[in-house]
Amino acid sequence: MTIIDGKTTARQAREEAKKRTEALRAKGIVPCLAVILAGEDPASVSYVTAKEKALAEADMASRDIRLSADISEAELLSLIAALNEDAAVHGILAQLPLPKHVREDRVIDAISPQKDVDGFHPVSVGNMVLGRDGFLPCTPNGVVRLLQTLNIPLNGAHAVIVGRSNLVGRPLSILLTRKDINATVTLCHTGTKDLAHYTRQADILIAAAGKAGLIAGDMVKEGAVVIDVGVNRVGDPSAKKGYRLRGDVDFEAVSQKAAFITPVPGGVGPMTIAMLLQNVAAAAEKTLDA
Ligand code: GUN
Repeated sequence: MTIIDGKTTARQAREEAKKRTEALRAKGIVPCLAVILAGEDPASVSYVTAKEKALAEADMASRDIRLSADISEAELLSLIAALNEDAAVHGILAQLPLPKHVREDRVIDAISPQKDVDGFHPVSVGNMVLGRDGFLPCTPNGVVRLLQTLNIPLNGAHAVIVGRSNLVGRPLSILLTRKDINATVTLCHTGTKDLAHYTRQADILIAAAGKAGLIAGDMVKEGAVVIDVGVNRVGDPSAKKGYRLRGDVDFEAVSQKAAFITPVPGGVGPMTIAMLLQNVAAAAEKTLDA
């Protein structure tokens, strides 16, 4: 069994992004991402901090926009409209979840597709579905890159995805069925009857349900590749922070069966950030031929 080291693969992708930044800087362009965080949800604060640190390490610029949780939807939309017009800003990221009174769809739709480095805008999603050029969402793209870098055979493989979120499960099902990747996909969700019946058939099992320990040892085929996208905070009084991060996979049990498995943390998470940097580089490069 091999524990997949997402950090090493992510480091390579981040180095690539940094090289692209240096080439852009030589032409007078500094790739810049505007990062909007409304409120102080602790998980979001830590994600945003990690993204900004990675941007700085790739010599990219960021606009750190921290807003109160009670910002109005209208204010947020007018802020995004200004960033859309700002030529020094190449990408715009509104960290989700947004405060409850703000309609997420309105915010996602307000970001210019040219600056949609999260790949959440309906235009980006449409381009992805049609196999056209556009920004790919970072976590699904990171999972694909991780599998490709490890030379996991994808052509004709049966990938079973657990979770149909707009952020991960559903876009991943689309990417994996692209012709150049060519996997067969089963997309399971909370309405799936007898989940284990499907997961046991997986050559590649991707857990993205947001439920700690959902995938038990007896749900996995011997020799499967297991990718755990779950990041769940589970209370643990013995831990320094009072919680521990756990994936959707029961790592102890499943690692006895799997040929490859990602840990949480240190598996998929670092890839998400690396793909974000690549999208920011791509957004800045596009201004060269505009
Ligand atoms: N919240 C959790 N993951 C993400 C992400 O990839 N992008 C944004 N904007 N918000 C998130």
